[in-house]
Parts: sequence; C-alpha cells; structure tokens
Amino acid sequence: ITVNVIDRDGTRTPDVEWNDHESLMEALTRNKFPILATCGGNASCSTCHCYLGSAAETANSSSPIEDEEEDVLDMLDDTRHDDSRLTCQVEWSEELNGAEVTIAPEW
Ligand code: FES
Repeated sequence: ITVNVIDRDGTRTPDVEWNDHESLMEALTRNKFPILATCGGNASCSTCHCYLGSAAETANSSSPIEDEEEDVLDMLDDTRHDDSRLTCQVEWSEELNGAEVTIAPEW
C-alpha cells in the first residue's frame, strides 16, 4: 500500500510505499523521513509520533493503542492530538492505503 506523508516543513510526499511486514515507523524510516526511532520501535521514545488524520480511527481499530503507547502519548501534552499515534505501534493494514500521515513536531 502507499501513504502520503507530510513532513515537519509542510512538504507533502505522495505514494510512499509501506510494505506488509513493516510497522508504519519502519516504512517511514526506510523512506528516509526524519524519524529517529531511538527506542527501536518499543513505544518508549516518542520520536516516531505522527498524526494520522482521518485514518486514525481505522488505525486505532486495526492496531489498538496499548497501555505502553498510551502512557507515552500522555506525556506529549500539547503536541498530542486526537489523531496521534506512535507509528512503531501501527501495523500494516490494507485499510490504511492512501492514509495521510503528518510527522509531529520535534519535542
Ligand atoms: Fe520509539 Fe516508536 S520508535 S516510540
């Protein structure tokens, strides 16, 4: 599937490939977006934080927010929005094809 990615400077990159064995974070880092992923995908560093816009509901049902992620999102305070996710916790799903992914500001 592909997603559209909006970088921190507002640049929109359409049709970014997301392979079915990858988390969304892995797809973003493989495509060289500025996601540090310092914890390696363990839902603890928050550097993979993105906004999923209208795809958030779909992502939240295919990859529900677990306690660990919830705790980290909670600490983000003002950069946390209703559509926030740690992208390392968002698994590939056909239903996320075409999602608009906005990289959250640096903390
Ligand atoms: Fe660290 Fe997602 S990579 S929280």
